[in-house]
Amino acid sequence: MSRSEEPPYGMPYDRETRYDPPSALLELQDQPVRRIRYYPDGVEGWLVTGHAEGRRVLADPRFVTGERFVHSPTELPHVFVSISEQVPPGFFLFYDPPEHTRLRRKVTGVFTVKRMRELEPRIADIVDARVEALREAGPGADLVREFALPVPALVICEMLGVPYEDRDAFQRNSADMLDLARSVEDRNKSMAELFGYLMQLVPAKRAEPGEDMLSALAADDEVHDVEAAGMGLILLVAGHETTANMLALGTMALLEHPDQLARLTGAPVLWPAAVEELLRYLTVAHNGVMRIVKEDAEIDGRRFRAGEHVTVALQAANRDPGKYERPGDLDVERDAQGHMAFGHGLHQCVGQQLARVEMRIGFAKLFAAFPGLRLAVPSEQIPMRSDMAVYGVHTLPVEW
Ligand code: HEM
Repeated sequence: MSRSEEPPYGMPYDRETRYDPPSALLELQDQPVRRIRYYPDGVEGWLVTGHAEGRRVLADPRFVTGERFVHSPTELPHVFVSISEQVPPGFFLFYDPPEHTRLRRKVTGVFTVKRMRELEPRIADIVDARVEALREAGPGADLVREFALPVPALVICEMLGVPYEDRDAFQRNSADMLDLARSVEDRNKSMAELFGYLMQLVPAKRAEPGEDMLSALAADDEVHDVEAAGMGLILLVAGHETTANMLALGTMALLEHPDQLARLTGAPVLWPAAVEELLRYLTVAHNGVMRIVKEDAEIDGRRFRAGEHVTVALQAANRDPGKYERPGDLDVERDAQGHMAFGHGLHQCVGQQLARVEMRIGFAKLFAAFPGLRLAVPSEQIPMRSDMAVYGVHTLPVEW
């Protein structure tokens, strides 16, 4: 192959706008499955930008997460690259069946639609309290600090049995773990600290059990203490960073699309559909998800070789014009079902029903309490989380 025919280097990740994936990435949608070269050494792998193609890859058991990720689709080492170097036991995102099945099954029951419905009143109380905290903080307050971060953090702490008083340390470590601008060593150090913290909690829970997930895992003979700590780690980190960013970025997007927000005002029945559309439109897992080809596979006539890295760009798949009409428009009344914001297949987000309930209740109560909610600074001044594994805003000053 001549040099000019070599595949492009990496997956574009520099955005021109706050809400849209990079245009250079969307331009690659003409070839929904293509070869790219990975960082740091230019080794060839795959980039999937199509919706149907992405689902096919993620549903195929030959594309796994249980192997070590050593290449990144972007110059910033992908979060998977840093974590897979030192995956803690129990961190089941990086397990393949049958071990993945064994551990994931231990927690799926807690996150069913039925269990989430039972939890709704408690989530509503937490949201009410944070709405009041925001009001007390007064106009100019940071919505991330007063509302978007505490709501999911309080909920997941209560479900797991992690003392919320310890939030300073675990929120700093979670954020550091997901900060792609930090070195891989630093990120792994933050993860190790968080793991150590959870390792101490597990025996304490066995000694004095509560009605929470860590107590149940600590008491389970089929789960080692180290696995319980690793499961606690992934649930704690994934359980609050993602939803917090959806709440803050979703609020900002709605404030900047007043026509869409107006359609929701006074029509709470529309929130569930609006939440799906916000998930699609914003796709906060904005660097996609990665897999490694376990054994040679042929899909749509393309031959994937064992050992190759594959990135499914969820942020592009959710803007696939073959799947959604006018994919670049935020349209809160569209049917966005089938979006890939929670991934797809075996590893599809285990906490998605919880996230949905938190967002439906969170947005509805926030906008009902502050009908005049607006940004307190011009939106260009709001620092975006471009270098973080989970996209969103670092702060969101609001007034009303
Ligand atoms: C997996 C996104 C909320 C726990 C995933 C994946 C995505 C995702 C894209 C798939 C990763 C992959 O396939 O490689 C989101 C978004 C959320 C959210 C956008 C909020 C809006 C939550 C919550 C929890 C959670 C609230 C827990 C309470 C997990 C876990 C996995 C996962 C444990 C790994 C599942 C497995 O490997 O089987 N999430 N998530 N997430 N998520 Fe979420």
